[in-house]
Amino acid sequence: MIVCVCHRISDREIARYARAGMGFDEIQLELGVATRCGQCEGCARDVVAQCSASHPVAALSRDDCGAPAGAQAPASL
Ligand code: FES
Repeated sequence: MIVCVCHRISDREIARYARAGMGFDEIQLELGVATRCGQCEGCARDVVAQCSASHPVAALSRDDCGAPAGAQAPASL
C-alpha cells in the first residue's frame, strides 16, 4: 500500500529500509517520506517500528509489514 502519496512510497519500501537497520530519520532522508505535507508520518513511523531490526520477531513474522494505517503493534512486541 502507498504510505506517502506525495512521494509514492509504499509500506514495503519503508519496511525494506527498516529491516536493513535504518531508523525513521534515516529513511526520511533517503526516501523523502513525510517531507511534503506530512500526513504520512504517523503511518510511516508505525511501519518502521514494526519492521525495524530492533523488533526481529515482528520483522520475521510479517511478510510485508503492511498493517492498516493507525494499527498498533501488540504491547508484547
Ligand atoms: S503523504 Fe507523505 S509527505 Fe504527503
